[in-house]
Amino acid sequence: MGYYLVEGGKPIGGEFSVRGSKNAALPILAATLLAEDEVVLENCPLIRDFYLTLDILRTLGCKVELTGRTAVIDTRVIHDVEIREETVQKMRSSILFLGALLGREKRAILGHPGGCAIGKRPIDIHLSSFEKMGVEIQEEDGLFYCSAPHILGYHIYLNYPSVGATENILLLAAKAEGVTVIHNAAREPEIVALVRFLRACGAEIYGEGTPSIMIEGVKKLHGAYFSIPFDRIEAGTFLCASAMTGGELSLLGVEKNDIETTVGALEKTGCKFRFTSDCLWMKPPKELKSDFSLVTGPFPGFPTDMQPLVMSLLTLAKGTCMISETVFEARFRHAEELCRMGADIVVEDRIARIKGCAGLHGAEVFGHDLRGGAALLIAALAAEGKSVIYGSQYVERGYEKIEDAFSLLGGNVRLME
Ligand code: EPZ
Repeated sequence: MGYYLVEGGKPIGGEFSVRGSKNAALPILAATLLAEDEVVLENCPLIRDFYLTLDILRTLGCKVELTGRTAVIDTRVIHDVEIREETVQKMRSSILFLGALLGREKRAILGHPGGCAIGKRPIDIHLSSFEKMGVEIQEEDGLFYCSAPHILGYHIYLNYPSVGATENILLLAAKAEGVTVIHNAAREPEIVALVRFLRACGAEIYGEGTPSIMIEGVKKLHGAYFSIPFDRIEAGTFLCASAMTGGELSLLGVEKNDIETTVGALEKTGCKFRFTSDCLWMKPPKELKSDFSLVTGPFPGFPTDMQPLVMSLLTLAKGTCMISETVFEARFRHAEELCRMGADIVVEDRIARIKGCAGLHGAEVFGHDLRGGAALLIAALAAEGKSVIYGSQYVERGYEKIEDAFSLLGGNVRLME
């Protein structure tokens, strides 16, 4: 099990180009199956989940070439429609292959995804929406056998604006017979990116970024060139690291609208921001302050993926802050680890109270998931002395060589395998 060795106390700052978005790239990779042609993706994030998803495409029979940050994916021929249980359990986002395979081949077999460290994460909304569109689903020995001689457009009312369910319905509806309307759809920037990619492949889709998305099914799609947009959670992670360590930071390749709620939360702690074309500059105050509350929620609400990072920041902000985690039921495991570093946090069910402390100290701590691990890493960068952070394998799933990036920006981090 890998771990990070960190010597804290140095300001994290300078200029940094944010990489491509994990949560935009993964659904787009699944969507390439619908093109049945050659697709070129640029600005790809070179992270573990991206490589795992390319492997799934290869296993299905696609030709994949990756040169630098450009992936050339030829999905003309596939010879399998099964996503095995061990694959889905390793990486939940592989359930998006269900919509893509059904949309293309009218049949698919998917292993049961199970839960993960941050929650039970059921897929009931995905499956009930698919059944409304004519998909027959049989569950046997932990596998979902799905087939649909005809995929029919339908008005789908989501009881929760699930990101994954909205993406899976988009993939299924792109080549369906007739019109599908998703009501109470997710509005995340990653949904907008997926729709823009599908439109580049010839799909007829309208309303992305709003609560209602309309999809007019088409008979055939084709290949396309597409550049993966920036990762708004990676950008937020670096902003929190700089704010906690007193560094001035300029992030390149950032889209203002996609990161506004994160910037809004940091502004409340006293950080100053300036946007120029696609560059975001930030300067933290001498003393961070808090005395506000944060509630996570679907976009444009405050992103749950930023919750652990901002909690880490608030451990050093003068005052008291409440965070309410409304999206996932078990996403506070980093709080106990932060307390080992001297933080003052009390968690009651899905509410956390954070009281700012004078300073953090180095410690041996355990990251249990992607964003929780990153939250401990930035706390260690701000802490006095040395820290050991176990669970680097989770962090590597969503951050590309984060140890090199922080070292580039003045930090002292090493990855030990
Ligand atoms: C996506 O997960 C992201 N993952 C998550 O990022 C992110 O936290 C989440 O959206 C919310 O923004 C990717 O894009 C790969 P949901 P997803 O379906 O699609 C419940 C990260 O750190 N729900 O919007 O799985 C579910 O249990 C990851 O990068 C059902 O009950 O999120 C959860 O409580 C972590 N039934 C809530 O909805 C369903 O059928 C939100 O889930 C589907 C979801």
